[in-house]
Order: sequence, then structure tokens, then C-alpha cells
Amino acid sequence: MLQGVTADISHMDTGAVVRGFLGQPQLESALTGMDLVVIPAGVPRKPGMTRDDLFKINAGIVRTLCEGVAKCCPNAIVNLISNPVNSTVPIAAEVFKKAGTYDPKRLLGVTMLDVVRANTFVAEVLGLDPREVDVPVVGGHAGVTILPLLSQAKPPSSFTPEETEYLTKRIQDGGTEVVQAKAGAGSATLSMAYAAVKFADACLRGLRGDAGVVECAFVASEVTELPFFATKVRLGRRGAEEVYQLGPLNEYERVGTAKGEK
Ligand SMILES: NC(=O)c1ccc[n+]([C@@H]2O[C@H](COP(=O)([O-])OP(=O)(O)OC[C@H]3O[C@@H](n4cnc5c(N)ncnc54)[C@H](O)[C@@H]3O)[C@@H](O)[C@H]2O)c1
Ligand SMILES: *[C@@H]1O[C@H](CO)[C@@H](O)[C@H](O)[C@H]1NC(C)=O
Repeated sequence: MLQGVTADISHMDTGAVVRGFLGQPQLESALTGMDLVVIPAGVPRKPGMTRDDLFKINAGIVRTLCEGVAKCCPNAIVNLISNPVNSTVPIAAEVFKKAGTYDPKRLLGVTMLDVVRANTFVAEVLGLDPREVDVPVVGGHAGVTILPLLSQAKPPSSFTPEETEYLTKRIQDGGTEVVQAKAGAGSATLSMAYAAVKFADACLRGLRGDAGVVECAFVASEVTELPFFATKVRLGRRGAEEVYQLGPLNEYERVGTAKGEK
């Protein structure tokens, strides 16, 4: 399987060098010298499961991988995809603290798929090309804690209460929509791969020193009373160099963020 995946990925004309590593014995070789580590390892949901149900298994996987990061590439930026993101990110933070390598700016929970879904569904309602739409999504990464800020959508748009309700629910339940449609065969993988690349690419542009790279991510935060929260962040050479405030919210969003904080 490892050789198959390595061969498959190596055929993409990206200019990237592709190498495969397998299991604990090769973890150090896989991680040494890395500037960016993307962690998508873990079990996905089946119908009826919440992201919290994955916690026990995925927490252990994330811990092992992050111990490797602390040892082999302590300055790398980590993009954590494994669910539940709102728990795996604090676990990774604890591993790094214990190793003495923790830098909150370099640990990013990937919520890009929530933004990708928001852009797609909003574009559908507005009759626009999704590539022209940008909707910030803040909060957590599960159900009602996912809060699209439709009032800050670009281009500036207004939505009826029914549209707001429909869009917010569909974005919050986007993952579950896929889990149910796949009926036991897993959760979002292809749209997640797209979102992961989009986010990793933004991190790399930040690392390269490009100016004005801003994306949403789940990071250590002082924006609310919660220790970790998804908001817009500015990505630079040192990771999430700036964590943005929520900005002006409408009444619907104020109620939503209050819910998200519970
Ligand atoms: N953040 C998001 O928006 C988002 C979206 C979709 C899925 N996810 C999460 O991503 C994770 C993976 O989902 P998937 O659908 O790709 O699952 P999958 O079962 O298709 O793939 C999981 C991969 O993890 C690998 N793996 C398992 N144990 C490992 C270990 N100990 N060390 C290294 N690798 C290991 C497996 O070999 C497999 O390749 C799940 O936790 C899922 O909930 C997150
Ligand atoms: C993560 O979010 C879920 C769903 O809202 C919640 O049940 C869980 O307590 C949260 N975990 C943490 C560590 O905040």
C-alpha cells in the first residue's frame, strides 16, 4: 500500500520530490529537516458518529507523530487535520510543551474545508463563481461551533433570514452530509485533500515571505475566553504571526459565537 501511494503521488507534475516512509521505525527519516508537516492520519467517522467519537484512537496517533516532530523538526509548522481538531490541537500543544518546543504560532488546526464549503454554498445561493467568494468561518470544527461569518462575506452580500439559516446549517453539517452519503465508507477525503493543499500552500507562501497571506485556522487564541479558536490568521515566516479579532458581527452571528464558546 505504501509503495502504491508513493508511486501514485509521484506521477503528479508538481516538481515535488516524493518519498515514502512507513511506521514508527521510519518516522524520524520522514520528519527530519521538514519546514511544514501536514498530519491527516487517523480514523474517519462512520454514519451516526460525532468527531468526538474518534478522540481515543486519533489522540494517540497525533501524540506519537507530534513527539516525532518535537524531536526531528521542532521548528516546523504543523497543519493538523486529524479529528476532532478542537481536541487534537490541544493535545499536540501539550506534547510540544512537554518537549519544550511549543510555539503557538506554528501549530495550526486545519478548518479550511469549512471555508471551502462556505464559499461553495454561498456562491450557489448568490449565483456567483465560488472562486470569487470568500467567507470567513470562525469558532470550532464541529456542528454548531462552526460559525460562518456571512456578514463579512466577500463580495459584500446580504442574505434573507431563511438564506442565513440554510447556509449556516449546511456549512455546519457539511461533513455529516458527506459521511451519510458515503454510508459507512468514510468521511470527506477528496474535498479535504483539496482544502489541505490550499491551506498548506498558503503556509508555504507565508514561509517564503509573501505578504498578506490570510486564511482561517484553529489556533491558540486570545480572541475569546477559549484557549483555542478558529479565526482569520496572517501566515508568515513564523507561522500564524497575527491572529485577527472577529470583526463586526450581526445579531445572528453574536448568538452563534456565544453558542460556539460553550
Ligand atoms: N479537518 C478536517 O476538516 C477533516 C476533514 C475530513 C477528515 N478529517 C479527519 O482526517 C482523518 C483521516 O481521515 P481519512 O478519511 O483520510 O481516513 P482514512 O482512513 O482514509 O486514512 C487515514 C490514514 O491514516 C493513516 N494512519 C492510521 N494510523 C496511523 C498512524 N498511527 N500513523 C500514521 N498514519 C496512520 C492510515 O494509514 C491512513 O492512510 C480523520 O481523523 C478524519 O476525521 C478532518
Ligand atoms: C470539541 O467540540 C465538541 C463539539 O462541540 C465538544 O463536545 C468537545 O467538548 C470539544 N472539546 C474540547 C476539548 O473543547
